[in-house]
Amino acid sequence: MAIPYCKILQLCLGLSLIFHNFSLANPFIVDDHRQGHQNNNNLSTKLIRLTSPLFVFGDSLFDPGNNNYIDTNPNFWSNFLPYGETHFEIATGRFSNGRIIPDFIAKYANLPLIPPYFQSGYKQFSYGVNFASGGAGALVETHQGKVSCYRWQDVKDHLLFLRLDIDAVSRTILITSIICYFSIFNISSHVIIIRSLQAISLKEQMMYFKDVEKQLRKRIGDRETQELLSNAVYMFDIGVNDLSEPDPMYRNFTSQDYIDIIVANFTDVLKEVYKAGGRKFVLLNLLPLDCTPCARAQNNAEKLAELVNQFNEALSREFKKLEKQLNGFLYSEFDFFTAVNDRIQNPSRYGFKEVRNACCGSGIYRGNYSCGGKRDGECDYELCDNPQDYFFFDCHHPSEKAYEQIAELMWNGPPSMVGQYNLKSLFEIQSRELAL
Ligand SMILES: *[C@@H]1O[C@H](CO)[C@@H](O)[C@H](O)[C@H]1NC(C)=O
Ligand SMILES: *[C@@H]1O[C@H](CO)[C@@H](O)[C@H](O)[C@H]1NC(C)=O
Ligand SMILES: *[C@@H]1O[C@H](CO)[C@@H](O)[C@H](O)[C@H]1NC(C)=O
Ligand SMILES: *[C@@H]1O[C@H](CO)[C@@H](O)[C@H](O)[C@H]1NC(C)=O
Ligand SMILES: *[C@@H]1O[C@H](CO)[C@@H](O)[C@H](O)[C@H]1NC(C)=O
Repeated sequence: MAIPYCKILQLCLGLSLIFHNFSLANPFIVDDHRQGHQNNNNLSTKLIRLTSPLFVFGDSLFDPGNNNYIDTNPNFWSNFLPYGETHFEIATGRFSNGRIIPDFIAKYANLPLIPPYFQSGYKQFSYGVNFASGGAGALVETHQGKVSCYRWQDVKDHLLFLRLDIDAVSRTILITSIICYFSIFNISSHVIIIRSLQAISLKEQMMYFKDVEKQLRKRIGDRETQELLSNAVYMFDIGVNDLSEPDPMYRNFTSQDYIDIIVANFTDVLKEVYKAGGRKFVLLNLLPLDCTPCARAQNNAEKLAELVNQFNEALSREFKKLEKQLNGFLYSEFDFFTAVNDRIQNPSRYGFKEVRNACCGSGIYRGNYSCGGKRDGECDYELCDNPQDYFFFDCHHPSEKAYEQIAELMWNGPPSMVGQYNLKSLFEIQSRELAL
């Protein structure tokens, strides 16, 4: 009996995403009029050619609210105040007090705010879309969540259950709905399902990107789609969650073997985007994880610092290989590590008064991840008066001011920070100049 249950349960998880898309009224959709853009669904073709669309993949640093739509837990949400307070006045699901890096990049590129992929009813992909999900890793095992399945007769007696892992990648949504339909009308009276999805892995984000490609082909045809996708800029930030919270199945791996698997999965996704026509990439390395207030509070800084170092070296090596392998693969390699490190070492030069403590949180360095008072049962938290003075808003995530400085550097920074291309120059390259 265990195997059929398992299949049904895996697939039901996918269905819950669909239901969320249709039925969860989302209070967090924001049109940013402050940028002076008309976020107009009636986009003229001319505009498409004037500016490149922006597709965003990654984790909480780039998530504009995708996690609002998944059945995760508050550790992976930030859709409550004081998140968002400084700029949006409501919490949008961004892990900061205001805008995040993709918001600033969109502004500099003359694009509207790039919305979350899961935003209800959003079908306009001509400006791009954002797939990033707080907690996501390059490996499907990182924060993949669990489905717990309780058989009714067991629950009645002892609350014993079967615990099943989910292979998030292998589920497809259509089959999902059919199987769930049967399960609802047939055996569900015998089964109680408890789901906890945590984050949308990079692999799954890629799956949704392919779906976008399909929809575009249907709507605007193959040629226009090809042009749009090759002209687009693809921005990635991934790896922090794989390194800081590895799945137990990797316990026995050496750090180098583990890093190699993460990086290989990351570059696999880059190759897929390239295959779909993508040519212009923006790739971030990892920030110095040992400098976050969370790490300071937990006292595991040294180990993290070494891992990040190894990871960043491996990334850089692999990006160079990709450039050789893939004709016309252009990339901006943003040195996020150095950008953050500079600010932490020289706060006053960049207008920060506090770089060790978080603005929002509790405990030493406000290094407990309790901002907003909704996570892991910790209800009390402190909030600073002026987030502008702080580099970190909560113990993992930079403040809006820090993000703005970093986005500016990504946009027009020098080769020492961005490699061959800054974002401004990537956006300016037109598709006819690309090797397709
Ligand atoms: C789209 O824009 C064109 C020209 O600006 C206008 O004529 C047309 O009515 C608009 N369509 C919709 C659905 O708004
Ligand atoms: C429905 O349940 C019955 C008995 O529990 C079983 O024989 C049948 O195969 C089930 N049908 C489906 C479609 O799962
Ligand atoms: C790790 O290795 C030890 C012994 O080499 C083994 O007993 C253990 O089951 C392994 N753990 C995992 C998660 O593979
Ligand atoms: C990607 O990660 C999976 C585990 O999630 C691993 O089995 C696979 O070998 C990795 N791919 C590459 C190319 O290393
Ligand atoms: C912060 O977390 C630590 C460890 O989990 C806990 O012992 C401590 O009480 C927390 N501090 C506050 C102020 O909640």
